[in-house]
Amino acid sequence: MCGIIGYIGEKDVQQVLTAGLSKLEYRGYDSAGIAVHHGDAVQVNKSKGRLDELHHQLEPSPFSTRMGIGHTRWATHGPPSDQNSHPHTDAGNEFAIVHNGIIENYLEIKRDLAEIGYTFSSETDSEVISHLFHYLYEGNMTETIQKVVERLKGAYALGIVSKHEPDRLYAVREASPLIIGAGEEEALISSDIPAVLEHTRDIYILEDGEMAVLTKNDITLLQTKTGQPLNREIFRVDWNVEQAEKNGYDHFMLKEIHEQPEALKKTLAGRVDQATKRVQFEELQWSLERVEQWDKITIIACGTAYHAGLIGKHVIEELTRTPVDVEVASEFRYRRPIIDEKTLVIVISQSGETADTLAALRQSQHLGANVLAITNVVGSSIAREADEVILTMAGPEIAVASTKAYTTQVLVFYLLGIYLADLKQKITKDYRIQLLEAVLDIPNKMEELLEYSEALQRYSESIKDASSVFFIGRSLDHAVVLEGSLKLKEISYIHSEAYAAGELKHGTLALIEEGTPIIALITQKEVNEKMLGNIKEVKARGGHVLGVSMKENMEMLEYVDEGCYIPDSLSLVTPLLTVIPLQLISYYTSLALGNDVDKPRNLAKSVTVE
Ligand code: F6R
Repeated sequence: MCGIIGYIGEKDVQQVLTAGLSKLEYRGYDSAGIAVHHGDAVQVNKSKGRLDELHHQLEPSPFSTRMGIGHTRWATHGPPSDQNSHPHTDAGNEFAIVHNGIIENYLEIKRDLAEIGYTFSSETDSEVISHLFHYLYEGNMTETIQKVVERLKGAYALGIVSKHEPDRLYAVREASPLIIGAGEEEALISSDIPAVLEHTRDIYILEDGEMAVLTKNDITLLQTKTGQPLNREIFRVDWNVEQAEKNGYDHFMLKEIHEQPEALKKTLAGRVDQATKRVQFEELQWSLERVEQWDKITIIACGTAYHAGLIGKHVIEELTRTPVDVEVASEFRYRRPIIDEKTLVIVISQSGETADTLAALRQSQHLGANVLAITNVVGSSIAREADEVILTMAGPEIAVASTKAYTTQVLVFYLLGIYLADLKQKITKDYRIQLLEAVLDIPNKMEELLEYSEALQRYSESIKDASSVFFIGRSLDHAVVLEGSLKLKEISYIHSEAYAAGELKHGTLALIEEGTPIIALITQKEVNEKMLGNIKEVKARGGHVLGVSMKENMEMLEYVDEGCYIPDSLSLVTPLLTVIPLQLISYYTSLALGNDVDKPRNLAKSVTVE
């Protein structure tokens, strides 16, 4: 993970770097630092803790220089500390580097450098890079970069400044994201687009095995190994800074929860032909013959995206009768998966950069599978490497806890399920139209739901001191409670578990005692009765139940302690509605506990390490 930024131009470099880092803090916030070219030296300021700590350190000595690099860290090698913060330098401060990724062979390099007299001040893998620059530099920076990366094994996006070159900023990428912003008399490097948007919308996406040389008037992209210049088209970002800002909300998470109706509408736009009432995916050139080559579908993702995949499995199997497996990417890649050219692999990733998901994509392609990616980030590694891409149009998601990316991913699965079922003639026209109407109506129903958050805020106050919260549901509701439970754990730090309600009596019921909070989803008509039976079981052991159901299911109130209603809808599409109260409960519980909602401890937004 980690976020890196670099700037060369006429603006106040310290201000540009710290403002950029504030946009990248979601990638890690264990420490922050900057290095700027100052006089004839490279000057570093860095500190453990949030960016605010760095700000305190910077106030007394603003730099007047015009080039520098910055870093916000999510600790991997070595705990958060001043020494382990980036930028790292060599002993004489001739070179400073910021690094996102992991250097797998750093111990070996460290040993070699130590043998010839280099000393190290941190426990990080990254520090070896700055010493390598010092050791290998012979007057030419691009050649030095080539020699340095030849020694490195692993993943890296690097920003580099050298005291010998006050007018040049360098960057190099291998398996960690890096973009270059091309402004007017200024240029930037960054791990992500929002950090440069204040300055420019013109972006180059650096690929693996490429480096960039930036001056304030010129950007040169080179193939790292050969030094061969590259021609790359500028990618113009069509969303704006405001979309990546809080817009009056207290937190990004709350803003992003409220953006869901709009995000869904954008993801739907152009994908439903109103005249024929059919789903259309311009990005998929799939014929019936092609689709029938695939005898199974494997969905691969991590975390919340994995939970979206569980809904995808249910929907696709239900509508197309094609078998679907869902796999956690970090497990998939370390076994011998049964995947071949008869498998359609679908990878899901908001960021498009999750290392395990990217590795699973590559492995699937290697095994002959066609890989479709569902991602939110154009130009991300996953978007670029997949055979086909369906973009969710959620816009930038900044809060670490994913909300609008999840619902847009789930929405894509409804569209995909209907599309495949239609192509394979597995559903009637009437059912297709009924389903599509239900899906198209979801954004309005979400808006209705979002108006009633006060009761959920009160409920959150009541569970904030619980030692454990249980979520239960059956069928599709089970997939949604897994997501609700993850969300609560992630930002409230309250222990929570999600269970298929029928499983409780096989062990977990032993944990229910007087007052244990239980959140039960009851929206799947064919198992409603069974679900009410499970609620009675937990109530009989003293559990305090919040039931979430449809308005038409009012009799539920007889069974639960508190009720929360979603607008009536088809059972198949309720996950897009039931998840909203669960997101809000997590948000308000975290808020009531005084936690940092947008940046929960120990986590980062984009997990680019394995
Ligand atoms: C939880 C959350 C994570 C991500 C996971 C995958 O709220 O956001 O569980 O879903 O790290 O990230 P992406 O979707 O970027 O691959």
